[in-house]
Amino acid sequence: MKRPDAPNYLLGVAGAGAMGQGIAQVSAAGGMRVLLLDANRGAAETAVQTIRGRFARQVEKGRMSAADAESAGARLIPVQNVADLADCDTVVEAIFEDLEVKRALFKEIETAVGADCLIASNTSSIPIASIARVCEKRGRIAGLHFFNPVPLMKLVEVITGPETAESTAEVLTALGKRMGRVPVTVADAPGFLVNMGGRAFTTEGLRIAHENVATPAQIDAIMRDCRHFRMGPFELMDLTGIDVNFPVSQIVYNGYMQDPRIKTSPNHKARFDAGRFGRKSGAGWFHYDAKGQVLGSPSPDHETGAAPAREVSLAESDDILAAFCAEIGLKIVSDNGSAPILAAPIGEDATQSAVRTGADFRRLVALDLLCDTAKRVTVMTAPGADPAARDGVAAAIAASGRKVTAIKDSPGFVAQRIGAMIANLGCYMAEIALASPADIDVAMKLGLNYPLGPLELAEDMGVAHTHRVLTQLQAITGEDRYRPTPWLARRVALSLPIHTEA
Ligand SMILES: NC(=O)c1ccc[n+]([C@@H]2O[C@H](COP(=O)([O-])OP(=O)(O)OC[C@H]3O[C@@H](n4cnc5c(N)ncnc54)[C@H](O)[C@@H]3O)[C@@H](O)[C@H]2O)c1
Repeated sequence: MKRPDAPNYLLGVAGAGAMGQGIAQVSAAGGMRVLLLDANRGAAETAVQTIRGRFARQVEKGRMSAADAESAGARLIPVQNVADLADCDTVVEAIFEDLEVKRALFKEIETAVGADCLIASNTSSIPIASIARVCEKRGRIAGLHFFNPVPLMKLVEVITGPETAESTAEVLTALGKRMGRVPVTVADAPGFLVNMGGRAFTTEGLRIAHENVATPAQIDAIMRDCRHFRMGPFELMDLTGIDVNFPVSQIVYNGYMQDPRIKTSPNHKARFDAGRFGRKSGAGWFHYDAKGQVLGSPSPDHETGAAPAREVSLAESDDILAAFCAEIGLKIVSDNGSAPILAAPIGEDATQSAVRTGADFRRLVALDLLCDTAKRVTVMTAPGADPAARDGVAAAIAASGRKVTAIKDSPGFVAQRIGAMIANLGCYMAEIALASPADIDVAMKLGLNYPLGPLELAEDMGVAHTHRVLTQLQAITGEDRYRPTPWLARRVALSLPIHTEA
């Protein structure tokens, strides 16, 4: 077998569409010769011209030398037939997402290439094992899952089916590196790593909106400002398209035998059924103009004309809450029967917090301090609470230059809830050995632009806090959806770092 760093390494790319072009581009840039094949006559030639044009633009922008662009462009060779791939060392398939079409092509490739040639699929959703099933030599078959647009997205998942040889994964990892990617090895499971790991962010956001705890605009603002996501779950769904993310959510949910942890909500299906796909259809969670700009999104900010509260009491002793009060100039007094009572619960809702501490629920205002509060603070009250208590506290927070989002009662507010669900799903992926704990974090950051990987997020929130948010959610809702993974529970019980291997 030729070494993946050999100068004359020959890569075949079958399918010259959006993904095939990207794969061919990074492979040629990485020094490999690339044969590009497409079933459509002329498509491979056009794709090669397109990629050479991209190299030329890189030269204009000073990101590539003219000599490198010239040689990389010359390494791209369009071909007409599968038989032309005979001398390839590896073939990457990136044709239509159709099992039967892919199986037929894999069989053809197998007969065309030599015994040592590896064959990889860029499928997003088809199990590698079900493609490999029709092949003779299954040890050389794997997934090589890139992300769109390939030249900008550094991650590549090397998917190992049950019969994939270890050496195949090793060579594909080396090839991925030569293409300038960051490869992670992932087991052959529904949604592989990133499309599974990404479920929690959107499905928990949807669930919170479905429960009418907060609006999509509020949830997005909280996740951006308090947890540093580039986009909230609703703007992200509108960008990727609900025609894409609703079916993917169903594939992964059914693939995991309908695990309630990754179940979506009726509001997701309703948008899909209504054809409100997001930006591309002019409306999804928000409305868009012809240029894709959001039209008149409701404000996530709680603005009242109320006078800022000056004095508050605390439902229970809490150093972090006391420090926050000092920072925004709120004087802490003992309960005088009229001042707002503050709490900063972890996992509990305002109702539970009032019941446990004995504080008057009418004046109890809960603040989420388990996240970044420099820009925005989430406040939450129990049903039947006096709006004046909340508004006075909100005005005091606003006077410190922060935005305030007021939500209805919920265990874990918004950021704790979505954060704990992302972390728990990351722990589950580690538990079932989908990938190593470190690779789970790397993949989620590179594949989805998450500010932290899911396991890093558990550490950031505090591993015990993350566990507490989940157990409170489970106790208050009575739902299995929120059951903590044994991976998380064991590391909390033993005070071990969350990345500790099994
Ligand atoms: N687009 C994405 O965001 C994305 C991301 C990751 C993975 N993928 C996966 O990559 C694959 C390709 O997706 P795409 O978006 O590039 O599709 P695409 O429709 O842009 O391109 C597919 C190309 O394959 C060609 N083709 C079809 N059957 C063929 C055959 N038998 N032999 C040779 N060529 C054939 C078509 O002519 C077309 O040019 C799919 O499996 C998809 O699931 C897509």
